[in-house]
Amino acid sequence: MKKLKVGVIGGTGMVGQRFVSLLAEHPWFDLTVIAASSRSAGKTYEEAVGSRWALEVPLPASAKDIVVKSAVEDMADIAAQVDLVFSAVDMKKEEIQALEEAYAKLECPVVSNNSAHRWTPDVPMVVPEINPEHLAVIAAQRKRLGTKRGFIAVKSNCSLQSYVPALHPLKDEFGLNKVLVCTYQAISGAGKTFETWPEMVDNIIPYIGGEEEKSEQEPLKLWGKVAGDHIENAVAPSITAQCLRVPCSNGHMAAVFASFDRKPSREEILARWAAFSGKPQQLGLPSAPKQFLHYFEEDNRPQTKLDRNLEGGMAVSVGRLRPDTQYDYKFVCLSHNTLRGAAGGGVLLAELLRAEGWLD
Ligand SMILES: NC(=O)c1ccc[n+]([C@@H]2O[C@H](COP(=O)([O-])OP(=O)(O)OC[C@H]3O[C@@H](n4cnc5c(N)ncnc54)[C@H](OP(=O)(O)O)[C@@H]3O)[C@@H](O)[C@H]2O)c1
Repeated sequence: MKKLKVGVIGGTGMVGQRFVSLLAEHPWFDLTVIAASSRSAGKTYEEAVGSRWALEVPLPASAKDIVVKSAVEDMADIAAQVDLVFSAVDMKKEEIQALEEAYAKLECPVVSNNSAHRWTPDVPMVVPEINPEHLAVIAAQRKRLGTKRGFIAVKSNCSLQSYVPALHPLKDEFGLNKVLVCTYQAISGAGKTFETWPEMVDNIIPYIGGEEEKSEQEPLKLWGKVAGDHIENAVAPSITAQCLRVPCSNGHMAAVFASFDRKPSREEILARWAAFSGKPQQLGLPSAPKQFLHYFEEDNRPQTKLDRNLEGGMAVSVGRLRPDTQYDYKFVCLSHNTLRGAAGGGVLLAELLRAEGWLD
């Protein structure tokens, strides 16, 4: 299979660094372009990132001498050079919307980590194991944009990446109707490290702007269906969320409470989690975890530090399933926010797009 040439716009940031490290050795994609703001343009990637490199793995040798372009000013040049771009820029919402749409109109597909287009009705928001069928709406989006090849596909917010996968295999079978979730989110989710955000050492901040709304509403788009030229959102379950920033470098944890129309047994829930496998597993996509949901029987697992890197940070860990006095069950979930929750989820989505012919 011929490798596709890819670019990362916003490649110098926290999520962009993850994209660069995942794409540097990718079997299907060849990272040829890195772009960021005009502050970084013209420098080598190594110079532009400088002391901001925040990953536990070294900056990839194949990326360090790539000369960074401007995501805005060099757009036409970038779009002509690559088969798709991954977007991880941090700009104003309207600027990101315009930038991503402009790349798509230049016939360069965009796989975005940003929230800017998540509510555009004909932009699929996809967790590949959950709603791969939503990619069909790309045909309507191309019609609207007047493109043959260009389109935008997005991944969902990092916060819900831990609990929606665990709820999904229970939802239709048992009639999931009510969810309460508290998330405990790592500082890399704000693009920060303990060096750049020392106030987070020994601290918890009970507010993450916009996160509770995303955590409550985005699952309903994921669980929606393609209806002609748009995605029609699901109306249930009702979800309420509180999102806290906690002093962890990476890994978002969630404490989940859930009720069902037909209360399942504990064994039924565990059996559905163990059997849950989606299209990425069936297609054998390179970044897909073999087992998407890992259940831990130990009372003190999953733990952020021990379990966030499970299956390359692409699997979701679950534990502490037990009955609750107010809801049917409660349990705990964990996922790596910059791997499965951001860049890894974006790369897996691009692999699905390629396997399903959307990047031909
Ligand atoms: N961190 C996470 O876990 C996470 C998870 C899900 C979604 N997100 C979202 O992903 C996006 C990136 O987050 P991040 O944490 O990686 O942010 P970040 O570390 O602040 O990086 C921002 C990136 O955007 C670039 N940029 C800023 N202004 C620009 C401009 N005017 N034109 C072009 N490029 C520009 C920066 O380039 P320079 O280096 O040149 O300034 C940098 O590459 C945000 O929208 C964030 O909300 C983050």
